[in-house]
Amino acid sequence: MASCASTVAVSSFGPPQETADTQSTISSLLEPAISFLEPVARAPFPAIRRLFDHLRTDARDSASLNATYPSRGLFKTAAMTNPSSDQKLTLDLSPKRVLLISADLRASLAAHGLEEVLSFFSAIAAAHIPTILSALSNLAGIDLAPLHKSQNINFRLCDYWPGTAAPESDNGCGPHTDYGTFSIIFQDEHAGLEVKAPGSSGWIPIPPGGAVLLFGWCALILSGGRIHAVKHRVRRLSGTRRLSAVLFVAPDVDVALKPVNVDNSARQFSELIKSGAVDVKWFKEVMGKRWRWREGNESLANGELDEVTQDEDIEKLVFGLGSYETRVKA
Ligand SMILES: [Fe+2]
Repeated sequence: MASCASTVAVSSFGPPQETADTQSTISSLLEPAISFLEPVARAPFPAIRRLFDHLRTDARDSASLNATYPSRGLFKTAAMTNPSSDQKLTLDLSPKRVLLISADLRASLAAHGLEEVLSFFSAIAAAHIPTILSALSNLAGIDLAPLHKSQNINFRLCDYWPGTAAPESDNGCGPHTDYGTFSIIFQDEHAGLEVKAPGSSGWIPIPPGGAVLLFGWCALILSGGRIHAVKHRVRRLSGTRRLSAVLFVAPDVDVALKPVNVDNSARQFSELIKSGAVDVKWFKEVMGKRWRWREGNESLANGELDEVTQDEDIEKLVFGLGSYETRVKA
């Protein structure tokens, strides 16, 4: 497969590193495809637990919350009834969606940890997005800041609740590569996150706790393959509740998703990608159909094979493997 990812070496796993020199720390952390970050704040897992407990048991507040974004909802519980989807509950709190929550509902949820969670995410975003983008720009050889002006970010909470429709299932989150520029995953004390180094045969478990930084498809494409994106998944341990909080950062929705510097490294990409015909909004829509299906929140259209994984579909689009370009252009 003509994928940059095939050359990725996942390395430098270890405990969170501490240094006073934030910029050089981040630069060194960005060298491997995934690494640890020392965040400015610890994720408020007690508040996250309280918020999930409240939404899972208070039908009125969870319905009111989902009514603020009726097309998809914010609190997603497909795993409670679907044994084959990812066995997790999720709560998506992007800044734009939070603004849609009424004052009354926000006050109700504040009593169950919402404001603590939002304060944490705001602090993390303000402190880490600019420095990580700066370090990534050095790595990519392009200035990524002008492509990230609109705060196209999402705050997601995940509850790997043991009482889902398939309590014995170890499928917390199926294998995938994130779509955006980078993601910071904050983990509680329970293991479960695993990554795959392309070219290696097995999954590598990530030590629990701390914050993990990894990159997505948009970073890989914009950098012409200089930045690597790594496939990951979450395995559940039977009877164990695991919580995580994730900050997703993506380019602005109108950014053309093509290698900014077209050099030899860009050759691996499909003609569709190199032409600049794909923007971030369209790419997210295409990927979103697959991840919402994996998470049990959306059905696939007729003709879309459910045995094709999310990454296989995107690899065809990005690298021009198979007939994807023909289908898209048709
Ligand atoms: Fe992910």
